[in-house]
Amino acid sequence: MSEFLRACRREPTAFTPIWLMRQAGRYQPEYRALRARYGFIEMCKNSDVAAEVTILPVTQLGVDAAILFADILLILEPLGIGFEFTKDDGPRIAKPIRVAADVNAVAERIDPQESLGYVLDAVKKTRSGLPSGVPLIGFSGAPFTLASYVIEGGGSRDYMHTKKLMFSDPGAWNALMEKLTSAVVLYLNAQIKAGVQAVQVFDSWIGALSPADYQQYVQPHMKRLFAALDRSVPTIHFGTGNPALYPLMKAAGGDVIGIDFRCDLGTTWDALGDVALMGNLDPYSLLAPRAELEARAKRVLDGARQRPGHIFNLGHGLFPEASVEQVRALVDYVHAQSAR
Ligand code: CP3
Repeated sequence: MSEFLRACRREPTAFTPIWLMRQAGRYQPEYRALRARYGFIEMCKNSDVAAEVTILPVTQLGVDAAILFADILLILEPLGIGFEFTKDDGPRIAKPIRVAADVNAVAERIDPQESLGYVLDAVKKTRSGLPSGVPLIGFSGAPFTLASYVIEGGGSRDYMHTKKLMFSDPGAWNALMEKLTSAVVLYLNAQIKAGVQAVQVFDSWIGALSPADYQQYVQPHMKRLFAALDRSVPTIHFGTGNPALYPLMKAAGGDVIGIDFRCDLGTTWDALGDVALMGNLDPYSLLAPRAELEARAKRVLDGARQRPGHIFNLGHGLFPEASVEQVRALVDYVHAQSAR
């Protein structure tokens, strides 16, 4: 079994495995060359290109796992929620969901094989192209993060419309969360059946909520989600923005909790106890001189104190201004420094 999968199961490893969120992206010259020829969604829907882009960071960086090249918004198409990628500001929802009637119009059920078959094809092609021993991670957006995206219609700083629906029409809110949760379960289980060896649920925007609101409006749906996932592969539950939510996320489910850089890994792990932990270097550490980057990576490794079950990652995704050389240096450093 790979070091990454061993760490997910909190078994001892020869070194700390590392992969990086958004390890396929515009910081790579090879990615930019493909992006000059294809639109982003076109790349996601072309399973040969998606597989090629998924595999590239494994050979280029030496990371210990690959993450499927796709986007959290692809699931919206079969749900009947239209969106488009604008040139500069990323995706826009055509008609944001704001009231109960909008929620009613969202599809009751998706058929991943029929509507997201290109993702499942990319899983199969990636598996056959990956070096043996390097696992493939599948993923989905979490219901809250998907819901806030479709309600706001795009990115948001305050999540005003999301909270307005949540606080004023909890029936409509829960109906939307139920539809999204059911779709995410079907989608992730289809990815597992197609061959992914772990799955990550990205609740990137969950930090907009207080612990009490998380418990009331989100946690029951997350419990149902994790309880319905195929248990044959490990699950990673990732969230950012509010470290006070991590104990509640752990209680909702996930073999591994993915944490951002706003908290200290060692003390967060002391508080969470018996769970594997993924994280949590501030991505912008990659812009520091090499010695400072290494000192910051060492601080993360030291916080883990050799506990089994640490997977090194950034606290959020890689960004276009990163350099391949510096990312590669981080991977090499983590491997060398953590060798036991
Ligand atoms: O680690 C991974 O590579 C997993 C795949 C993944 C992507 N985006 C690939 C991607 C995941 C989990 C996301 C998350 C995502 N995508 C969120 C949640 C917030 C977060 O950052 O975690 C949201 C709201 C989206 C929707 C989305 N997709 C936006 C807002 C953008 C444009 C802004 C940006 O960062 O480029 C995308 C495009 C996108 N998603 C790219 C990639 C590799 C870049 C596409 C390109 O221009 O080449």
